[in-house]
Amino acid sequence: MSARILMVASGKGGTGKSTVSVLLGGRLAAAGKKVLLIELDSGLRSVDIISGVYGKTVYDISDVLSGRCEGDKAVVESPVYKGLSVISAPYEGGEVRPEALRRLIGRMAPYFDFILVDTAAGLGAPFQAARTVSDMALLVLTPDPVTLRDGRIAADELVNGGCKNVRLVVNRVGPASFGGAVRDLDECIDTVAAQLIAVIPESAEIQHSAAQGMALPAGCLAFKALDNLARRLLGEQLALAVRW
Ligand SMILES: Nc1ncnc2c1ncn2[C@@H]1O[C@H](COP(=O)(O)OP(=O)(O)OP(=O)(O)O)[C@@H](O)[C@H]1O
Ligand SMILES: [Mg+2]
Repeated sequence: MSARILMVASGKGGTGKSTVSVLLGGRLAAAGKKVLLIELDSGLRSVDIISGVYGKTVYDISDVLSGRCEGDKAVVESPVYKGLSVISAPYEGGEVRPEALRRLIGRMAPYFDFILVDTAAGLGAPFQAARTVSDMALLVLTPDPVTLRDGRIAADELVNGGCKNVRLVVNRVGPASFGGAVRDLDECIDTVAAQLIAVIPESAEIQHSAAQGMALPAGCLAFKALDNLARRLLGEQLALAVRW
């Protein structure tokens, strides 16, 4: 086994990277894949809450990247999404050096089918380190002009750095998303210049389950959208679950 490495990025903050990372990891795990999710952020961590590992973490990613412990010591199984393992971000601090991340990924890759690297907002050290180790980048963007423009800057940075697989996930799509400042999904695709791989609806179920560290209820539209994203990554040809 040698894991596929997917980085999750956005440019602008707060677009749903961490939420999508956990929920996607949960659906890949439900499909029988072994999944490790690394949150490469510090200070603004949220993966621990969404995945239900909050309070169970002894070591975090900064302990691993600074050499204070081996990667396996920092891995915690999500009690919410079976088969999803998590390395959380620290409350604060921690340098992200590409060589240290590469070493960690090299050590963990034989044990997993997928490693998801949830990066911080912006194009700083977490983004730069993640792109040196990733096979694919998922840009999780909300359908508003500023986020899409920042997403394009992130996409260009990835492509110019040699990443051939940049995919667009449009998140938080609702009835009022289009027809105004952003015309439609095509405009999102054209602005970012990346292939669309998923459309995830604005979802009260996501908000509630993420805040409580509970499983996203099967049967809601967001669950279906995340499941389709996982299955597309696994090679299935599916129509986008676009309905809102
Ligand atoms: N599809 C959705 N429907 C409703 N709420 C959502 C959806 N996706 C994300 N959210 C909410 O948006 C907020 C930000 O999400 P999240 O923390 O995942 O963003 P982020 O991109 O990781 O942020 P940061 O840049 O700070 O790391 C959270 O409150 C989350 O519950
Ligand atoms: Mg985040």
